[in-house]
Amino acid sequence: MTTSHSLAAERLTLGYGDRTVVDSLDLVVPPGRVTAVVGANACGKSTLLRSMSRLLAPREGRVVLDGKEVHRLPAKELARTLGLLPQSPVAPEGITVADLVGRGRHPHQGLFARWNEKDDEAVAAALDATDTAALADRSVDELSGGQRQRVWIAMALAQQTDLLLLDEPTTYLDASHQVEVLDLLTDLNRARGTTIVMVLHDLNLAARYADHIVALAQGRLHAAGTPQEVLTEDTVRTVFGLESHIIEDPVSGRPLMLPIGRHHVRPRAGATTARTPAEEAHR
Ligand SMILES: Nc1ncnc2c1ncn2[C@@H]1O[C@H](COP(=O)(O)OP(=O)(O)O)[C@@H](O)[C@H]1O
Ligand SMILES: [Mg+2]
Repeated sequence: MTTSHSLAAERLTLGYGDRTVVDSLDLVVPPGRVTAVVGANACGKSTLLRSMSRLLAPREGRVVLDGKEVHRLPAKELARTLGLLPQSPVAPEGITVADLVGRGRHPHQGLFARWNEKDDEAVAAALDATDTAALADRSVDELSGGQRQRVWIAMALAQQTDLLLLDEPTTYLDASHQVEVLDLLTDLNRARGTTIVMVLHDLNLAARYADHIVALAQGRLHAAGTPQEVLTEDTVRTVFGLESHIIEDPVSGRPLMLPIGRHHVRPRAGATTARTPAEEAHR
């Protein structure tokens, strides 16, 4: 199965109160591919994802899904095609893992279509894929941050949408669960053609897992393209104000960003050892 939904932002301007956060943004999400959205804290990544999933109305411009304006679509209709895992979702107090994941099936229930076997199967598959089946009867409140994050991902998976938007899906996860979740999203993309758009803070995971990277700077598009095109020393400097060194990731062949901080930088061959200003003053 492949899907070919088109999702795009057209001259999209978003904000809160008097503040403009996203400014006249044009963005095309490549259908059937994995896109990573990267950018500094507070540059508007979550705001963009919330607007693309209809939670925040545009000031100007529009979000278009298959030729239709997202903000004019009924919530349930949109939710059958597009799922969002928000950055800090809040679970109803006392809800169990199985019930929360089951809520991912709501868009598929109508007046006539009640909960059925397909829903059971979708929930079981989502719990299984996220390694949370053993938590099914636990209350979401009592889980660790990482367990809870995997449960939210399970809920998004249970929705079985062709487009999946995830805001920092790897937050709270240890290294192995980060890789597991990103591998899982890649499986979903390859097996079902699910279009994935995810906000990631880890540029190296973004470069490893995304086909397409969108770098935002202060609510504007700084760069978009393949990891090789976008993850450059220049982009890292402009978008994050960070000096870096980019090498080829020996595991994947994708770009790998090594930050250059003020400490623990090996002196280059032939260069004299770096001295602190105080040492310089005493020479
Ligand atoms: N509900 C809100 N009300 C007012 N300002 C908000 C709200 N949500 C986000 N902002 C502001 O919008 C800017 C962008 O936020 P956000 O999109 O969450 O950034 P990012 O996800 O890139 O870190 C920030 O300055 C943030 O403080
Ligand atoms: Mg955010």
